[in-house]
Amino acid sequence: MKELKKLKLLKELYTYQSLGLEYFNDIKNIKQTDMQISDSLPNSIKKLKITVSNCHLCTLSKTRKSTVFGEGDINSSLFFIGEGPGISEDETGRPFVGRAGDLLVKIIENVLELQRDKVYISNIVKCRPPNNRAPTQEESNECLPYLLKEIDIINPKIIVTLGATAYRYLTGDKTPISKIRGEIIKLNNIKIIPTFHPSYLLRNPSAKKFVFLDMKKVKNLL
Ligand code: URA
Repeated sequence: MKELKKLKLLKELYTYQSLGLEYFNDIKNIKQTDMQISDSLPNSIKKLKITVSNCHLCTLSKTRKSTVFGEGDINSSLFFIGEGPGISEDETGRPFVGRAGDLLVKIIENVLELQRDKVYISNIVKCRPPNNRAPTQEESNECLPYLLKEIDIINPKIIVTLGATAYRYLTGDKTPISKIRGEIIKLNNIKIIPTFHPSYLLRNPSAKKFVFLDMKKVKNLL
């Protein structure tokens, strides 16, 4: 819970920073605005998944075939966050099962030397944005409480955000992914490590070496 509060605070700090503010004299205000979103959601992954499957908070619910909730080991120390479901995920109701998913699994197996079912994998939004576009800020805002609750329940040691969108919507930090990847962003006991999205690697195979380095870092921290 403490980590989630810090995450919200970090997001707000980055928002203020993007507005041009450099100093915070009134931290109390930020704490007061800290809504405990996750308190109104179920505390079990099973129940949370059911809540998500009934969600109609944004227009993505109108075009989805399935909601795509996170999956994997709920006791894992390692939590991957992607952007949102694509066509294969929408068809199957499972995250990262298309081409990008195949590459993610290869990375998990070959670099981290783990099986897919030993990590937890989720997304910023749980419904497919049409035509594979990135989720909007509004769609992310509606869906983020579900992800924050997933993080709260799983309580991972490390979160790997995949791609610019996942990192930006989770933290609020707009630093380009090419600059921030491989950095460790500490939030009490959770370390966030941004890296490139597997879809980007499919288009730019030469960037694989950077993800390899980032995953080696993750492996050392686990
Ligand atoms: N599949 C997902 O589940 N998420 C992504 O970000 C891309 C593909």
